[in-house]
Amino acid sequence: MSDDAKITVTEDGPYKVEGRVPLGEQSIAVNERGESIEWQPTGDFEQRKTYFLCRCGMSGNKPFCDNSHAEGFDGTEVADRAPYAEQAKRLEGPRFTLLDQEDLCALARFCDTHQTVWDEVEKTGDPEVAAIFLDQVSNCVSGRLVAIDNVTGEPVHPQRDPRISTTQDPAEECSGPLYVEGGVRMVSAHGENYERRNRMALCRCGQSGNKPFCDGTHVKIGWSDKD
Ligand code: FES
Repeated sequence: MSDDAKITVTEDGPYKVEGRVPLGEQSIAVNERGESIEWQPTGDFEQRKTYFLCRCGMSGNKPFCDNSHAEGFDGTEVADRAPYAEQAKRLEGPRFTLLDQEDLCALARFCDTHQTVWDEVEKTGDPEVAAIFLDQVSNCVSGRLVAIDNVTGEPVHPQRDPRISTTQDPAEECSGPLYVEGGVRMVSAHGENYERRNRMALCRCGQSGNKPFCDGTHVKIGWSDKD
């Protein structure tokens, strides 16, 4: 986990990203039933040491900030900063436990593919179901869902290097949040640290009710970063 990689949420303004964090784009790939199955990388932006990403949804140069927020954007950070483990509900299965903090949901829908993860967790004594369950939970963009190994008591998630991706959701014909991977440090506009997590979904449509995190509003309003 790099200590240089850092996101600062600026007051009613963009995300300031420092530490040469790679920036790319990923898109939700679906199966023949239209269910989310994997994140597909669809491109990279030029590497920069420091950059500012639009948070208000109004920039004419997305994903970068062009100062459009100055026209009037209330970016007040309202998300609860209590640790994830305190806020998440626990559902215990035979082999894995599912932690679930619903207000972080970014509506990427990997949890609903096959059976839902809430059904599957009770059947994780079956290795085949357990493998599918872990795959779905690992694809949860926001870190709403975390699987805990009942043997070790440790979370099961792929270790990733710091990276930020703009996201696209072709099945819902909309663009999605910033997918932040790799435990990038994040600091509020008032200097408070957010809990470091290996997955976070940050709102970039400007409409979330749980800023700075995405709450799925971009799907409901059909927000596009091409507009
Ligand atoms: S990007 Fe998801 S609510 Fe704004």
